[in-house]
Amino acid sequence: SQRRQVDETLAPFRLSQEQLQLVKTRMRAGLEAGLKSKGPSTIKMLPSFVYRTPDGTEKGKYLALDLGGTNFRALLVNFKKGLQHNVRLYHKIYTIPQEIMQGTGEELFDHIAQCVSDFLDYMGMKNAHLPAGFTFSFPCEQTAIDTGTLVSWTKGYKATDCEGHDVVSLLREAIKRRNEFDLDIVAVVNDTVGTMMSCAYEDPQCEIGLIAGTGTNVCYMEELKNIEKTEQKFGKTEEGEKEEHMDEGTEGEKKEGDAEIPKMCINTEWGGLGDDGSLDDIITPYDVEVNQNSLNPGKQRFEKLTSGMYLGEVVRQVLLDLTRGGLLFRGHVTETLKTPGIFQTKYLSQIESDRLALLQVRSILQQLGLNSTCDDSIIVKEVCGAVSRRAAQLCGAGMAAVVEKIRENRGLVHLNITVGVDGALYKLHPHFAGVLQETARILAPQCNVTFLPSEEGSGKGAALITAVARQKHD
Ligand code: BG6
Ligand code: GLC
Repeated sequence: SQRRQVDETLAPFRLSQEQLQLVKTRMRAGLEAGLKSKGPSTIKMLPSFVYRTPDGTEKGKYLALDLGGTNFRALLVNFKKGLQHNVRLYHKIYTIPQEIMQGTGEELFDHIAQCVSDFLDYMGMKNAHLPAGFTFSFPCEQTAIDTGTLVSWTKGYKATDCEGHDVVSLLREAIKRRNEFDLDIVAVVNDTVGTMMSCAYEDPQCEIGLIAGTGTNVCYMEELKNIEKTEQKFGKTEEGEKEEHMDEGTEGEKKEGDAEIPKMCINTEWGGLGDDGSLDDIITPYDVEVNQNSLNPGKQRFEKLTSGMYLGEVVRQVLLDLTRGGLLFRGHVTETLKTPGIFQTKYLSQIESDRLALLQVRSILQQLGLNSTCDDSIIVKEVCGAVSRRAAQLCGAGMAAVVEKIRENRGLVHLNITVGVDGALYKLHPHFAGVLQETARILAPQCNVTFLPSEEGSGKGAALITAVARQKHD
């Protein structure tokens, strides 16, 4: 029957507890391998050169530039008198057209410089020469807080001549070419790190940052002694660094427990789990298709199972298959259904909303150019549910691995920790957050994990990092 065939198609998306447990184990192994100095690893574990979360003494005016999510944002953040929670924030959102994401690097950075120019005009601050933090939401190999070499583009970007280059230099050069304003770029920051900092400003228990948006990624505070790569790369100077940052940690308000232990925030780039084939047992033929049609085949396999840029595509592949099998849309494979990218996260979120009557689901499908019957709309909703539930469960399994790692680091029987979160999938989807939390709870029973949505994106966090870096310079 039709019912049975739909169930069979969706069965591979329904993961058992055992399978999720395995994902957790593999994520944990990936985290450990990435921290080791030897050999490449699928999970990059990139040092961020952020040594502590904010302590509330940060003050001053900073510019934050935020590239890599759905939009580019420019922000002016003002921490007044170093008083916590006395923050003023102005921002403007700019879209980055696809031609620019996938054109030349020079065009991309010129475009960013142009947006910054517009923002400074808007704020009336063209001559202010402000210190700036640059949230750049792609994997960067850092050797200091203000340099980051792009390892490889992810998500929808593939601008030429950027991989292997320092993105701070690329931005500085673009600003120089424009020859119109000056900026002092003090920090380059991954969006996970910015999000963690932003949330840690509100909640000192926040030592993890999670993005579930266009892409997916996690950062967390790791103990320096476990980060073998920095030890090796920076040799003896590392000792000096450690001491310096211990001093810094004790200046501010001391947190309870382990504030003395020297740490650094690590950008895990967990989206790369599975790039060595380790997730092949849960990957469906639909995922294979999505991977092959992507800008980076073979890369970011975990990200392709779990993030906004890809979930709609997985859904579309399933719908195509069901339609070809005559189970949907009366067997008509339309041009619309063959169009990549039609199911954006916001539509998935709408289709799965429980408050929506089926008639409304049909009207969303109609807007997308898909004529559905009532039965069709039920099946489409089911497909969306299976794909997004799997995504949330996989993120939950990954999160369980991260919190367990932190718990073991600290030798605790029980860990209380907060995760700062951002991203459209987390914030807009009706069930993602709930399933994520539930899965993490089941798979890490000794950890009490609180998820705290970030309020102003990662920009405030980038500004906080800039403030700390700048205070050191002054
Ligand atoms: C924003 C952050 O709030 O969330 C960005 O400031 C980040 O840096 C983004 O990339 C993730 O969300 P999305 O859903 O736009 O990818
Ligand atoms: C991608 C990027 C990563 C970023 C994440 C969320 O996975 O590689 O750096 O944090 O998307 O935006």
